[in-house]
Amino acid sequence: MINHAISISDFSREDLEYILSEAKKMESLSREEKGTILEGRPIASLFFEPSTRTRLSFETAISNLGGRVVGFADADTSSQKKGETLSDTIRMASGYCDAIVMRHPLEGAARRASEISDVPVINGGDGANQHPTQTMLDLYTIQKEFGKIDGLKIAMVGDLKYGRTVHSLATALNHFNGIELSFVSPAELKMPSSIVKDSKHPVKEIGNLGEIIPTADVIYMTRIQKERFPDPLEYGKVKDSFELTAKMLDGAKQEMIVMHPLPRITEINVDVDETKYARYFAEAANGVPVREALLKILVEGNNG
Ligand code: CP
Repeated sequence: MINHAISISDFSREDLEYILSEAKKMESLSREEKGTILEGRPIASLFFEPSTRTRLSFETAISNLGGRVVGFADADTSSQKKGETLSDTIRMASGYCDAIVMRHPLEGAARRASEISDVPVINGGDGANQHPTQTMLDLYTIQKEFGKIDGLKIAMVGDLKYGRTVHSLATALNHFNGIELSFVSPAELKMPSSIVKDSKHPVKEIGNLGEIIPTADVIYMTRIQKERFPDPLEYGKVKDSFELTAKMLDGAKQEMIVMHPLPRITEINVDVDETKYARYFAEAANGVPVREALLKILVEGNNG
């Protein structure tokens, strides 16, 4: 098992399956059993970019394991505001804490932090690049629902250019077999060609959401990432590209699930929430056992 969680590409299928199996164990442990795993250890939670689910589920996981959260949710309250570099901030946090969870708007920031830190660094999202722990909880959700990941038809929909969750998920799926992928996006927001080229699975790139609904096992919706667009006018052109509604799911497979890393804006109508297909809130809840498992593995591994 590796020392940091920076990119999903750093994890083998065996690593991922081990994390998922440890997450399942976490769900069966009592509060008392879990509460001794981090035994008062300080864990840094450094969020240089907004977050609800990633930060709160990591902080819940740390607290459930008996650890203590040290950090900030808004970089403007840190000495970055006075001009301190990321490298210096990480050097400090590495001296105070037993692991660092971080989110940063710059691609590569978490990798850089891992080169400086003496303790494990967990990437909670770096710009439009990677969100490996989201992928772990996505895989956990799929595994829980279908009892497997191999052999499924998975459609990723929305902003596939800037969406780091789909970049990580598409990469991780290369470890599994027999998957068919559909990438559904506006022409301006297609999946990066490197990810399409590196996919070991058959890939269909299309612009019409309705086309994949009858055959998909998983429809993985994503929002258009407004904050990543250099030009707001370009965002305006594509912001309402897709809206999944309950009516559109009339022809879906009975076992199909709709996932979304959240937050959603308008791409999933709230009427989908009441259908049997909606799994995005359960998916978000799965973030806690998965992040508990990852913290346990990395912190214990760092102690030799
Ligand atoms: N899924 C996810 O990363 O959500 P947050 O941005 O709220 O952390």
